[in-house]
Amino acid sequence: MKTIKTQVGIIGAGPAGLTLAHWLKKHGIESVILEHRSREYVQARVRAGLLEQNTVDIYKYLGLADRLLREGQEHHGVYFNFDGQRIRIPFGELTGGRNITIYGQQEVVKDLTDAWLAGGGALYFEAPALSIEGFDTAHPIIQFEYEGEPGVIECDFVAACDGFHGIGRKSLPKNSFQEYSITYPFGWLGILAQVAPSSEELVYAYHENGFALHSLRSSKVSRLYLQVEDGEQVENWPDERIWEELSVRLGTEGWSLQSGPIFEKSITPMRSYMIDNMQSERLFLTGDAAHIVPPTGGKGLNLAVADVKHLVDGLVDFYQNNSMRGLEDYTKNALKRIWRAQDFSNFMTTLFHKQAEHGSYTYRLQKAKFDYIRCSKAYATTIAENYVGLPFEAFI
Ligand code: APR
Ligand code: PHB
Repeated sequence: MKTIKTQVGIIGAGPAGLTLAHWLKKHGIESVILEHRSREYVQARVRAGLLEQNTVDIYKYLGLADRLLREGQEHHGVYFNFDGQRIRIPFGELTGGRNITIYGQQEVVKDLTDAWLAGGGALYFEAPALSIEGFDTAHPIIQFEYEGEPGVIECDFVAACDGFHGIGRKSLPKNSFQEYSITYPFGWLGILAQVAPSSEELVYAYHENGFALHSLRSSKVSRLYLQVEDGEQVENWPDERIWEELSVRLGTEGWSLQSGPIFEKSITPMRSYMIDNMQSERLFLTGDAAHIVPPTGGKGLNLAVADVKHLVDGLVDFYQNNSMRGLEDYTKNALKRIWRAQDFSNFMTTLFHKQAEHGSYTYRLQKAKFDYIRCSKAYATTIAENYVGLPFEAFI
């Protein structure tokens, strides 16, 4: 039996777990990470790629932003299309200079993993955590498996950064939280294609055929999405059909979409989910373990990083001042931004997706919102400040 002693036992090497480990290290707090999957698997997982201003600032502060600043692309605005008409929301102008950066989530995970291992950090891949015990005492433990042998982490605190399907949420006492969820009757078909982006900024589009999004990864790689029916299969979407549909849905006068070879294609369901308690004694949940938002607006990774900030604040307070005060406030502090992001992600989803007959009452409300954004600087500002992410001080 392998026994490891550390201050914080972290389950999951996604954005939440890795960011937490680095941030704690910056404060001299030791941690060990367990990751169920292999390094290759984790780094190949294609997800959204939108980093809020706060997230970029945090990675800069942690000294983890070299490649992000070199290869990521700062965007100062975004396009919204509705029935073929296009408007632009200029973030910088409306938010006093706050922006977003486009940089793939798996690149963030790669950078953080490389830096953690290069700095001698402990991270076990293919090491599933099996149970979390004793978190109602000062000596919690995590049972895990590694190379076919059982192991145990003895720590002061457990951070379950183990995503939606992890064991963290299941370990919380049953009656300690309420669940909230919506499943949407559609999903996203996402592609990566070897073609220069057809727009220098992102384009979100409502079309009577459904939603489409044009995003990008580099000067040579585009990332695009299409709304598809719930339960749709990738096999029904040959490349020509995808390009044709993207071109129709994103089309505006005087603009055309460039196509190219597609090298990644997958369908993800859409849901909103959260619980309203992220702590039980010495067990803390961060990121997807506690909440999921639909990807419209790209909030998932940013919310995980914001949770980590609040958890680090609490842990630093504990180790420096021997106080549980900050840790006890963890859920309360994190929930304010989570509810804000739930609302904004739901707003973006319902604004742009086809939910009812084109021309119906629901459609008219969507169009009324779009027309209002077009004519009201106040409404556009609300959208811009949510899109780039509110500063931490805003929630105090
Ligand atoms: N033991 C060890 N690791 C586990 C276990 C377990 N029992 N269960 C899950 N994991 C690992 C998963 O393999 C995964 O690598 O936890 C990690 C969780 O990472 P993510 O799912 O990426 O979640 P998180 O770090 O919260 O990142 C937030 O932002 O864009 C969104 O949904 C997107 O990944 C996303 C997220
Ligand atoms: C992405 O680039 O993957 C992306 C961007 C914006 C979103 C969702 C995904 O709203």
